[in-house]
Amino acid sequence: MIDNEIRCQVAIVGAGPAGLILAHMLHLQGIDTVVVERQSESHVRARIRAGVVEQTTVDLLTEIGLADRLHREALVHDGFYIRFDRTTHHLDFHRHLGRHAFVYGQTELVADLIDARRATARPLYFDADDVSLGEIDTDHPTVEFTHDGSRTRIAADFVAGCDGFHGVCRQVVDPTAIRVMDRSYPFAWLGILARTTPVTDEGMYCAHPDGLSVHSMRGPELTRQYLQVPADTDLADWSDERIWTELRRRSAADDHPELETGEIIERSLAPLRSVVTDPMQQGSLFLLGDAAHIVPPTGAKGLNLAVSDACVLSHALGTWYALADRSALDAYSATALPRIWQAQAFSWNLTTTLHRLGEGEFDWQLRRARLQRWTSSADEERALGEVYLGLPFPTSWQPELVSA
Ligand code: APR
Ligand code: PHB
Repeated sequence: MIDNEIRCQVAIVGAGPAGLILAHMLHLQGIDTVVVERQSESHVRARIRAGVVEQTTVDLLTEIGLADRLHREALVHDGFYIRFDRTTHHLDFHRHLGRHAFVYGQTELVADLIDARRATARPLYFDADDVSLGEIDTDHPTVEFTHDGSRTRIAADFVAGCDGFHGVCRQVVDPTAIRVMDRSYPFAWLGILARTTPVTDEGMYCAHPDGLSVHSMRGPELTRQYLQVPADTDLADWSDERIWTELRRRSAADDHPELETGEIIERSLAPLRSVVTDPMQQGSLFLLGDAAHIVPPTGAKGLNLAVSDACVLSHALGTWYALADRSALDAYSATALPRIWQAQAFSWNLTTTLHRLGEGEFDWQLRRARLQRWTSSADEERALGEVYLGLPFPTSWQPELVSA
């Protein structure tokens, strides 16, 4: 039974970066949205995720007025460090490209995005249960959800599926019309947030024959670090002491002091996988961000890809509402996918070079050879930097309206 009916132009499922940024860009264009999120607001605000934001993403967030706190608080990096054979190398992308990477936790960004949505006074429902989609193959799709015990139906022109990899939107598409290409890896990342001083002034990947360790940061005394562990790892088997011993062993170097240890305030386990859905749309449903594709965390592209999709869809919806021209909507997937594949290729390159994949000396020597190229060739450094700092987005976020 439906208790309430509401109408909007675009119903957005999921209040992660993809959903909230899309909502903001559509709001700026005068397009009416309702955002529906399964989790509670406190859960969404507390969720700890990656934190490297491309210059391209920062430029867009700045343009749409969402980067004020980011500019005050983010750490501005030129590149990152790579350590192997107990030696530390800096990849300086800024010197080639004049651009930066910004370290700003996705948690902080999502808090900014929720605040921005609240400031528009447009609807944002947290704690939405039993979210379901209807009639996506028509031009009058619906999204239903239960909130505070009553069932609401949103009647929309379009649905933006921004509800991540485990959401409902990717499940309603016709599997015979959409290809899902994927690759999983036999390992996961054990991540910690710790009250310790970062070992280097920019993030660092340590490629050790026994597996990767990653040393990132959130502030002068707050670090985010990761360990490659087997996919079937049980977090309960990893005491603080075991985590620090392994992080120290993998990051041991002759040119830097030993890693500082301290209080671990959060820990999590994330499997590594690569997924691409093609096309990322069906009828009036469009998939964005993790609902459409997953990249392994190596290279921290996930958030940036979600923003790129939101940009492409915002442009296409803007074109539809301003000019009654559906061509950009029809081309949404074809427009978004090439940049997604560039990020997949980059993440794959980093993942397979930095992790221990197979047994034996041959595998390690191949990886070492690639690492030596990355750290000795200016051309390689520049090529990595182009993608790390962010390839241009496929479109602007709003239509190019030709003035009369
Ligand atoms: N109904 C409504 N909301 C849902 C549902 C559902 N059935 N299922 C999931 N959600 C919500 C999740 O609770 C989450 O808040 O959708 C949101 C999806 O957000 P993200 O997972 O952050 O995904 P996305 O916005 O695509 O951003 C991608 O986030 O997961 C990281 O590594 C990823 O950095 C990448 C970025
Ligand atoms: C992070 O800071 O969380 C981070 C850094 C580098 C990565 C992934 C995540 O590759």
